[in-house]
Amino acid sequence: MAAEPSVRSNAYIFYTLATVSFVETSVPEFVETLNQMYAEDDEMQGWLRDTWLPEEVEHGRLARDYIARVWPEFDWHPAYAAFLDRYKPRCDVQYMRPSLALEALSRCVTETQTAMMYRCLESFMPTEELKQMMHKLSAEEVGHYRYFRKTFDRYNAVEQHGVIRRLRTIVARSELVRDEDLAFAFEPLNDFWRSPQPFAPMTWETFLEISGDVMKQYMPVEAAARMMFKPLETGAWWRDRPVRALMTFMVKRQYPQLASEA
Ligand SMILES: [Fe+2]
Ligand SMILES: [Fe+2]
Repeated sequence: MAAEPSVRSNAYIFYTLATVSFVETSVPEFVETLNQMYAEDDEMQGWLRDTWLPEEVEHGRLARDYIARVWPEFDWHPAYAAFLDRYKPRCDVQYMRPSLALEALSRCVTETQTAMMYRCLESFMPTEELKQMMHKLSAEEVGHYRYFRKTFDRYNAVEQHGVIRRLRTIVARSELVRDEDLAFAFEPLNDFWRSPQPFAPMTWETFLEISGDVMKQYMPVEAAARMMFKPLETGAWWRDRPVRALMTFMVKRQYPQLASEA
């Protein structure tokens, strides 16, 4: 399927798909760490191996193949190697959360955030092929969220972390998605071209700004808050207005672009 010329000259689509391709392709690095942590949990290991790993790697492959077709002058492999040099040490077990329940919770955050991002991108993308790709990705991230959520509930039945501890884990992990995963993936994107880029190079700040605008356009701040804090949805307290107001405040703090809407 040929891509529309408008896609090739669209810098934002390139940077988005390239960061997606890097972060998703790097999942095997992370599976090793999770296998170490959940070494006693055969069910979890089986799911990581048979479902999570193949689906995430496939997300990376879809984005990478699209890039190879539409921006063939981008040298994906050395760019990915440069990303991995910086990112791989961060996947080490020492950077994981201090307990199996909290690690599963922080995985829930990553999965809801990616699901949310892909859902917005599905609406944003200008072609049917890219819309379908984003739809598949977002549906599968929701499935991953469900599994990690079940895992969190299972371990938290024993570990019993309260709401404040869970909130802190959620906020800390969501800041890492932005400040490390995506920032590291973005870094090499202007350096590995065999011929000039078919668009003006974009800075990280501009990329963040446009991403915020895309979210603002396609996902109301209330819905973003609901998704981000889904792993806290237990008990009647969640439905209280003040709690919802606090969640919304935190999402706005994290995504200042959304705050300007209010
Ligand atoms: Fe994924
Ligand atoms: Fe996922």
